[in-house]
Amino acid sequence: MANQDATTGSITSGKRLYIETYGCQMNEYDSELVRAILKKENYTFVPSEDEADIIMLNTCAIREHAHRKIFGRIHQIHHSRKFVAGCSGLVARATNNERPLIGILGCMATNLRTELLENKSLKIDFIAGPDSYKRLPQLISEAMSSEQQATSNEQRKPFDITLSEFETYSDIFPQPEGGVGAFVSVQRGCNNFCTFCVVPYTRGRERSRAVDNVVEECQRLADSGFQQITLLGQNVNSYRHENNDFADLIEAVSQVKGIRRIRFTSPHPKDFPDKLLDIITNNPKACKHIPLPLQSGNDRVLELMNRTYTRREFLALVDKIRAKCPKMALSTDIIVGFSSETDAEFEDTYKAMEQVEFDSAFIFKYSERKHTIAQRSLKDDVPDAIKTERIVALNELQKDICLTKNSAHIGETHAILIENTKAGKTGDRCVGRTDGHTLVTLAQGTYNVGDWVSAKITAASPNGLKGKAV
Ligand code: SAH
Ligand code: SF4
Ligand code: F3S
Repeated sequence: MANQDATTGSITSGKRLYIETYGCQMNEYDSELVRAILKKENYTFVPSEDEADIIMLNTCAIREHAHRKIFGRIHQIHHSRKFVAGCSGLVARATNNERPLIGILGCMATNLRTELLENKSLKIDFIAGPDSYKRLPQLISEAMSSEQQATSNEQRKPFDITLSEFETYSDIFPQPEGGVGAFVSVQRGCNNFCTFCVVPYTRGRERSRAVDNVVEECQRLADSGFQQITLLGQNVNSYRHENNDFADLIEAVSQVKGIRRIRFTSPHPKDFPDKLLDIITNNPKACKHIPLPLQSGNDRVLELMNRTYTRREFLALVDKIRAKCPKMALSTDIIVGFSSETDAEFEDTYKAMEQVEFDSAFIFKYSERKHTIAQRSLKDDVPDAIKTERIVALNELQKDICLTKNSAHIGETHAILIENTKAGKTGDRCVGRTDGHTLVTLAQGTYNVGDWVSAKITAASPNGLKGKAV
């Protein structure tokens, strides 16, 4: 191990970093944390891997597909490394002992530490789990010095995947590049242990940040132009810090000057007291959209998943939400082909989706994950072909529902916050979202990101709406 200290800058000063982010919004937020931590140590972030001395992949472990993508990406980087090293005349930086280093961050780092470290063909230089980002300056510096000492494959790689009961990074305020919306992580980890899910193992126990601390971060973001905040947590509505619950947090953030929309993700259906539903319904800054992950519409499967609610309880919650606020948009997550799910049980999910008519849905095939309860005690016994049939059926159903739901907005006028002015194939489309999170493409006009447009909805498709400024 080297003993250079990153803060002295002796080995790492002026190094260029490139970070690539996979997975959920939590990882997007974490990549901003990593940027904030390393910028303080005088690293420069570059927009392309070709210019980088160090490439970091902030990884996801939620499904096998996510894993395969990362392994493919690592091999691709190695391939281009060889290419660059072979052409060192062309690319002056790439001498033999000055190649880009590869670091693995995020959920795969915790979940696959052994595989990542022991698989020689991967040649990973350092590994940091989601609670270890403050150690990155040290880990990178160690990786750099072992690289300089031109090394054997046996050398120990710097890694830290320790999960913490306390780390919330509350002393670091990321400053994302300009835009309309920013993420703010208010809670880390998860205690729910849904049997299919790897997150409690990759991100550890649930912990929440203080309200004042979250408000301070939101104020800084508002001051730099962000108008929309998305509060993030794996089980965000179980947020609790001292005497404050999630409703109190939304209320506090809504007081922040400059913030005009508040969204959140992902809540769990078990934590929706009336107080919270009332705040979301009545606070004008709280968007009228609740992500409500159903996962399955069958009670036996829900129990196998350890979701802790029944189909009836879920449907009753939907009714209650709509009774309080008829226009509340609802989205969901569904898993098809979970262990031993029969055709009849899948039908229950199909019927529940028909009944609820979610405004949008993410539907996934069950993917068995290492270390989870399901991997240890249940069989992944639904054939892939059946999973495919089920996901296709639900996607078709949901597409029809989306079209019906979206068509109902034709003729209405909505406040649209412009998010992107270079969308579409031609790169000249203006898109924004309604309060309920539906995407709207504006027919004409020149707008800037962050503009508010009052738009009359003129057309609908399963993916969104078209509108005209009024
Ligand atoms: N904390 C969030 C979920 C994070 S993962 C929540 O509870 O809603 C996002 C979605 O991925 C989950 O809602 C679930 O539908 C899906 N998912 C999680 N683990 C999975 C697995 N092993 N296979 C397939 N889908 C999975
Ligand atoms: Fe995973 Fe369940 Fe926690 Fe969501 S609530 S992160 S699905 S264990
Ligand atoms: Fe993936 Fe980790 Fe998010 S597993 S979905 S990056 S919490």
